[in-house]
Amino acid sequence: MKKDLGVVSAVFPMPVLMIGTYDKNKNVNVMNAAWGQICDDDKIMIFIGEGKKTWNNIVKSKAFTVSLADAKHITEADYFGIVSGNKINDKFTHTGLTAIPSEHVNAPIIDEFPVCMECELIEIVKLKYTNGIVGKIVNVKADENVLDEKDIIDPKKLNVALFDTFKLGYYTIGEEIAKAFDVGTKLLKDK
Ligand SMILES: Cc1cc2nc3c(=O)[nH]c(=O)nc-3n(C[C@H](O)[C@H](O)[C@H](O)COP(=O)(O)O)c2cc1C
Repeated sequence: MKKDLGVVSAVFPMPVLMIGTYDKNKNVNVMNAAWGQICDDDKIMIFIGEGKKTWNNIVKSKAFTVSLADAKHITEADYFGIVSGNKINDKFTHTGLTAIPSEHVNAPIIDEFPVCMECELIEIVKLKYTNGIVGKIVNVKADENVLDEKDIIDPKKLNVALFDTFKLGYYTIGEEIAKAFDVGTKLLKDK
């Protein structure tokens, strides 16, 4: 028997995205964003509240990086979602993480996160409560130790973090249960 729960605006999993930006003085800022998704083939859309340090930085610098948080750095990842660079000047340096400039966009790459997308701002989609920041992915950098033999990012090697919007937990992934665009064909064959 199913229960009616009313409006529950949550799905599982959500990503744990680390948005890296520069302010006008090239100070590094990073924020945690779970409300984000790949769209339109080579773009990523992230929903960021107007006025956050990251929002202000992206509007000015027209660029950002998106790193996938891994389990090893989940404490820093959560901290980036609790503290605002608007209030704490050394938000980033306090973590002891390392930032290097992207060669492709005007934004920092956080060295300790194994996978990083380098993005140019191309559009802001205004919504009622939040805004969609659309970035064109111009390059992706990945540590060699998270790649498989075909240089494809392996989420298990990355030990990527996932966010649960129902109970606010962080998770890692379990076992692969099937191949996508493949296992469903069994039902076609059975017909
Ligand atoms: C797990 C988690 C996910 C979050 N996702 C988002 C998000 O998608 N969009 C957003 O605007 N804020 C999100 N936040 C809150 C921001 O990370 C937080 O407001 C942060 O302090 C903003 O930093 P900044 O002002 O330095 O940019 C999230 C926080 C956590 C802990």
